[in-house]
Amino acid sequence: MPFRPRYTGLIERYRDRLPVNDDTRLISLGEGNTPLLKLNNIPKIIGKDVDIYVKYEGLNPTGSFKDRGMTMAVTKAVEEGSKAIICASTGNTSAAAAAYAARAGITAFVLIPDGKIALGKLAQAMMHGATVIQIKGNFDEGMQLVKDVAKEAPVTIVNSINPYRLQGQKTAAFEIVEELGRAPDYHCLPVGNAGNITAHWIGYCEYSSNSGEHVTAACAHCDGHCKYAGGAIVGNRPKMVGYQAAGSAPFMRGEMVDDPDTVATAIRIGHPQSWEKAWLVKEESGGWFDECDDDTILAAQKLLAEQEGIFCEPASATSLAGALNDIASGKIPEGSTIVCTLTGHGLKDPDIAIQQSTAPMVTVDATLDAVRDAIVSNMVS
Ligand code: F0G
Repeated sequence: MPFRPRYTGLIERYRDRLPVNDDTRLISLGEGNTPLLKLNNIPKIIGKDVDIYVKYEGLNPTGSFKDRGMTMAVTKAVEEGSKAIICASTGNTSAAAAAYAARAGITAFVLIPDGKIALGKLAQAMMHGATVIQIKGNFDEGMQLVKDVAKEAPVTIVNSINPYRLQGQKTAAFEIVEELGRAPDYHCLPVGNAGNITAHWIGYCEYSSNSGEHVTAACAHCDGHCKYAGGAIVGNRPKMVGYQAAGSAPFMRGEMVDDPDTVATAIRIGHPQSWEKAWLVKEESGGWFDECDDDTILAAQKLLAEQEGIFCEPASATSLAGALNDIASGKIPEGSTIVCTLTGHGLKDPDIAIQQSTAPMVTVDATLDAVRDAIVSNMVS
């Protein structure tokens, strides 16, 4: 049997482009290297000649893209001697923080909006032994509290305002370019704090220049924390398209939103932390922001699950929902190559999935006759 080196996570893989040294102790759970799946059925259903790929970030170790950033943030926190990390979260960041803190042997404190995070995410934070602080307020209030308390307590913030988070997350763009052999024409993402859209842009910018130095655009975003290694692969960069849930769409309103609301609880954010960076990304890439209402988001989630066998959480489906709108209107033209990031796994939020499922479920006696009847009457010819 041929020997294949064990995959040990994205820091090891992209060591030359990340702020680590040879003796840095890496805190990893084997994150990254997620599948880039080409949609086979949905383009046929919509009758458009487009190549749509989904980057299935739900297959990271804790079920979301946050692991890419968390491996970097916790690695650096440990390197700098920190014994505790803290974050505010709509759920996924808290799950990742809890898991990586457990792996590192340090303490995690997570602030979550009381009753407004999906069950799977709460289970993760609790199971990994984080101290869960539920606040009677939303994510934005939690974020402010985290910033305030970190001024007084010896805790490292691991929200995406921690610049190492974006450094880890930029590697998703590297993987996409390496698999496609070029950048896509459009990269669509759900936007909450707008950290991930910024991180992807950093990654694409680093791959688009062979100068061995930062391109201006990337420099604007990296906060001096990347170790750009040069060595160009591609010349093109995608248009970055950010979609928000209509009830939580500060980028569409052009100002902060105080009472955000959406079924996509992961992106229930009215005061994005990467506000200025994301506007720069839009300008530099020639992309745009748009919004989708909750019904459109849930319909895209279901379409993807039923037609392609891919299960993502509601917030993640916002990228596909928005892309389908823009493909339908022609804003994204036929002939385009599109990547939609599916930020989190569908199993994170079983309640919403079961609520909206229309799949036939019948309860019958435990007899051969009853089961046979159930099959015959539900058989699709
Ligand atoms: N999709 C999912 C599944 C998320 O959990 C988040 C953010 C986003 C998209 C938006 O990414 O903030 O970088 O624009 N979740 C954070 C959390 C806020 O606490 O888990 P962004």
